[in-house]
Amino acid sequence: MKIGVYPGSFDPVTEGHMDIIKRSAKMFDKVIVAVAKNYSKKPLFTAEERTELIQRSLQDMPNVEVDSFEGLLMDYIHSKNAQVIIKGLRAISDFEYEFQMALMNRKLDPKVETIFMMTSYKYSFLSSSMIKEVASLGGCIAGLVPENIIPDIYRKLKTIR
Ligand code: COA
Repeated sequence: MKIGVYPGSFDPVTEGHMDIIKRSAKMFDKVIVAVAKNYSKKPLFTAEERTELIQRSLQDMPNVEVDSFEGLLMDYIHSKNAQVIIKGLRAISDFEYEFQMALMNRKLDPKVETIFMMTSYKYSFLSSSMIKEVASLGGCIAGLVPENIIPDIYRKLKTIR
């Protein structure tokens, strides 16, 4: 069984992430969207909330599951018997950092491949931080994040004001 893991912070999930999830679901028997619990940025949503928001955004994708992980990504990959790390590339600016991570992950286990999917051009300017900034200033985020999670984003931002 070909299992791919799509890791990230997903704070919150955007249509750019959803685009990568939908396309990778066609390439693998199973895709695990892996929400990082311990990452350096201070998240708006807890790992449990980020996981739930993604779960709610998935429709008709029976081979996609959402999970969270702590610690080294490669240990998580092994624990799930996955063979591939899936990453989205938005622009040239992502390349250097992603290249470093892919090489480090290859050093940790050369049997695990990292594949990069080009994010759809419609979403290549998107980031979770930009969504939070626009929403916190009252801007419209429709079309940029799954529709059914929009109220959660505005509600959560109100709690930190
Ligand atoms: N559409 C829209 N936005 C996207 C996107 C897409 N397709 N792909 C990435 N982004 C955005 C994210 O929203 C995020 O935006 P933000 O900075 O505003 O929050 C930004 O790109 C970075 O993405 P992120 O999900 O934070 O991923 P990352 O590439 O920095 O990697 C981990 C995060 C968790 C995968 C990585 O740090 C990791 O593997 N950590 C585990 C510890 C470990 O094993 N370290 C060694 C690895 S070599």
